[in-house]
Amino acid sequence: MLSLERLSKTYADGTRALSDLSLKVRESEIVALIGGSGCGKTTLLRLIAGLDRATSGAVRLDGETLTEPHPAVGIVFQEPRLLPWLTVADNVGFGLSDLPSSERRARVTHALEMVGLAEHAGRWPRELSGGQQQRVAIARAFVTAPKVLLLDEPFSALDAFTRASLHEHLLALWEESRPTVLIVTHDVHEGVALADRAVVMQPKPGRIYDELPLHLARPRDKTSPAFEAAARRVLTALDRSLHEPRQAAQERDREPAGLWW
Ligand SMILES: Nc1ncnc2c1ncn2[C@@H]1O[C@H](COP(=O)(O)OP(=O)(O)OP(=O)(O)O)[C@@H](O)[C@H]1O
Ligand SMILES: [Mg+2]
Repeated sequence: MLSLERLSKTYADGTRALSDLSLKVRESEIVALIGGSGCGKTTLLRLIAGLDRATSGAVRLDGETLTEPHPAVGIVFQEPRLLPWLTVADNVGFGLSDLPSSERRARVTHALEMVGLAEHAGRWPRELSGGQQQRVAIARAFVTAPKVLLLDEPFSALDAFTRASLHEHLLALWEESRPTVLIVTHDVHEGVALADRAVVMQPKPGRIYDELPLHLARPRDKTSPAFEAAARRVLTALDRSLHEPRQAAQERDREPAGLWW
């Protein structure tokens, strides 16, 4: 269980990027973080990854407090951030230097197969397309079998076709080791395609506005009425988050759920 407990982050210039944010994420759950620009999504992932310190509150993984980068937590950024002086295979195997080379090779080969890039193992990052580079970044994140995987708008720079195929690769890898996943996205359909729960955030200060469980069977049929209805619910929540204070959502939560979804 990943537990975020009353997290607040105020930057040195006084910006309240997060205020009193609490969230529990079950083992193997996929959560989509959605919200307007500046509501603290990246800040939140950086705190969980141990790349920055919270002003107050705690991040706990199975009871252990995380304050610095932890091997059980992997992160994928919006851009691939590959090391240009290493081949594709060496980029993927970068975090496995403690393993015997035969096992490292086997794991890297498998991860590259899972993202459809086995034949590109010996290439340089510059010889790959943007979508291929992001596949390498995803393979690199999964190869260490993290318990928690954080993805910060990993597909936002890619076209819709590439993005859909990366969703498939991501879910195939997730099926193997079933990490807990937090994915930041601006794309409501992407969130609904991937996640078990959508968490909608609000800015100034960054906080959770609403949470919507997505009870949809996998593999998900993006053309089904249930998918469209779920996407509409998330869009409505996102739209409200931009226009209405948080209290209104909380008051609505006290109504019987059937009244509005
Ligand atoms: N290092 C920093 N110093 C000061 N303020 C910062 C810093 N990093 C982020 N902020 C501010 O904190 C707030 C939250 O930023 P953050 O990057 O977490 O938002 P976000 O939800 O990821 O936005 P986006 O969707 O645009 O990526 C913003 O107001 C931003 O300007
Ligand atoms: Mg961001």
